[in-house]
Amino acid sequence: MDAPLEALRTEAIAAIASAADEAAIEQARIRFLGQQGALTALSKGMKDVSKDDKPRIGKLLNDVRAAVTAALDERKAALQGDADKAAFSGVDVTLPGTPAGFAGKGTLHPITQLLDRTTAIFRRMGFALAEGPDIETEWHCFDALNTPADHPARNEQDTFYMASSDGSAEGRLLRTHTSTVQIRTMEKTAPPIRIIAPGAAYRRDEIDATHLAQFTQMEGLYVDEGVSVADLKGTLEFFFRELFGNDAKFRFRPHFFPFTEPSYEVDIKTSMLGATDRWLEIAGCGMVDPAVLEAVNTKRGDRAFDPEKFTGFAFGFGLDRLAMIMSGTPDIRYFTNSDQRFLAQF
Ligand code: PHE
Repeated sequence: MDAPLEALRTEAIAAIASAADEAAIEQARIRFLGQQGALTALSKGMKDVSKDDKPRIGKLLNDVRAAVTAALDERKAALQGDADKAAFSGVDVTLPGTPAGFAGKGTLHPITQLLDRTTAIFRRMGFALAEGPDIETEWHCFDALNTPADHPARNEQDTFYMASSDGSAEGRLLRTHTSTVQIRTMEKTAPPIRIIAPGAAYRRDEIDATHLAQFTQMEGLYVDEGVSVADLKGTLEFFFRELFGNDAKFRFRPHFFPFTEPSYEVDIKTSMLGATDRWLEIAGCGMVDPAVLEAVNTKRGDRAFDPEKFTGFAFGFGLDRLAMIMSGTPDIRYFTNSDQRFLAQF
């Protein structure tokens, strides 16, 4: 039996070596080791082997089975290695991966990121978040804010007015500024008040690189006993230094707003703007006009905001404009046209 077994070993190993794929290997396994296979057929001859030869032939049978099994495993591993190599050909697996955030997870909108940062800074100074509706009454937007009927901000050409659906006398409009939330807060709460109110504001502006018909403002109001211009300046300077760094310089320029007296515009000079020596206007502010406190008192029907007892400051600035300065964005429209090439940079 030795010769046929040795012949089978040689034949099997040659056949396995030339198997070109996994299917061919499986066929070889069935042909040589399967239940109807060649080795099984030969092992049936064991019963005719003489007693003396049995141990030797038995061992040879096992050797051949082991050799064929090893040849099958080896060939399978070699073919798998070739397949892996083919799959990775042309791929440099040492290159860095694609960051998940860029590939599709997304990030917060740059204005939202700035809003979160500004809110956090004011929170540290004890300001609470307040809010009001985008669709407002003329009273909250203008009258209560000491803005007379002939003021240019109330011009139909500049403001989005809406027809009143219930035929009521008072018209509605998209708020032209977030100062409406000053009034809404004072209607509900007695002093001391220290709030910020971020939100949308609307103006019928010609849309260009620095103007949108809808933009985002951050309003602030602080009313208490003894609030002074020094508090206003200290608060805003602290806030803007937190944003722009300690080298920022400020200028409070006298200005006019109907609802504050005195009023200022805040200009800033910062290295963030590059080497330029330019002052940039970033906010409006002032001391709450006593007429505003009295309008609120009248509406409330009490003297909660007695101007003899309480003073306050208010401020407002555009987050879009700040975000433009801080990110070097040249055109405000980038913030609204949902271009991933722009947004993915934040
Ligand atoms: N509401 C003003 C504007 O939109 C900004 C402002 C807010 C000014 C509060 C003074 C006080 O221009």
